Amino acid sequence: MIVPWRDRRGQFLPLKAAVFASAFAPAIWYFAWWIMGEAGGRPVTEAVQGAGLWAIRFFLVSLAIAPAARMLQWPGLLLVRRMVGLTGLAYGLAHLFFYTMDQMFTLGIVVSEILLRFYLTIGFVALLGFSALGVTSTNGTIKRMGRWWKRLHTLAYPLIAMGVFHYFIQSKANVSEPVFVAGLYVWLMLWRVLPMAWQRGVAVYPALALAAGLATAGIESAWYGLATRIDPWRVLAVNETLNFGLRPAHYVLVAGVVVVALVVGRRVAGRFGRSSGRIAAQPT
Ligand code: HEM
Repeated sequence: MIVPWRDRRGQFLPLKAAVFASAFAPAIWYFAWWIMGEAGGRPVTEAVQGAGLWAIRFFLVSLAIAPAARMLQWPGLLLVRRMVGLTGLAYGLAHLFFYTMDQMFTLGIVVSEILLRFYLTIGFVALLGFSALGVTSTNGTIKRMGRWWKRLHTLAYPLIAMGVFHYFIQSKANVSEPVFVAGLYVWLMLWRVLPMAWQRGVAVYPALALAAGLATAGIESAWYGLATRIDPWRVLAVNETLNFGLRPAHYVLVAGVVVVALVVGRRVAGRFGRSSGRIAAQPT
């Protein structure tokens, strides 16, 4: 029997078990909150928001697994990529379920809202796309589709971008959180266009942190310029100082610097491991 915490040969994998358990954590947390009456006056609306947020978080993590595996020289991480993506899909479907529940299961209203409201149409199309990727993720289908499977699954990139866009449009006045998410997405996509030799090196990572930070500031200012009457140049200028607290672009920069530290740490650990291995191998 196929169980999520074992590999194909049936061997127990602690990493898979840990990821499988953490997939349930937000749902259990929310359920406990609900039971204890802590979910506020509109618990279903809270569930819509919570499930949407966890969907986008798991999709971003699934996008981060390939870079992390290469940067940290940890190929075993790739074994949990499918599970993380499917968890994103499960939260996305739960998001739609709770939305339908919020509309008292009146399917006519749900359908007409999805057709009439642009941000819901985008979310729906994204969810359809993710569902297609989900159903084609069984071992048998992956084998049958061969290289077409990989091609089909590059659709995850525009689909996640659509999810982020949906997140932007549904935000009322403050778009700081979707801007931050968009900045992380930019980092993950920039990494993908780098030559493989650069991805394996160290030197490119500070530049990547800076580029993603600048792009985030640009996205924030463009959003306010296009979607509101706020002066985009003033929004951009706010990023040049810390007087207004940390902005999404600063957080993205910090995330990029943490990545630099991890990459450097991994390389140092690798060298140290190799040289101590050599010393241990010398005849005493
Ligand atoms: C049929 C598809 C979808 C529907 C009907 C839908 C509906 C909604 C609605 C009504 C909200 C606003 C909640 C509120 O402010 O009370 C929302 C927010 C959100 N949705 Fe969706 N959505 C769909 C698909 C998606 C997908 C595929 C994703 C992720 C990839 C997603 C991520 C989010 C996020 C992150 C929020 C913001 C949650 C927050 O307020 O913190 N949605 N969605």
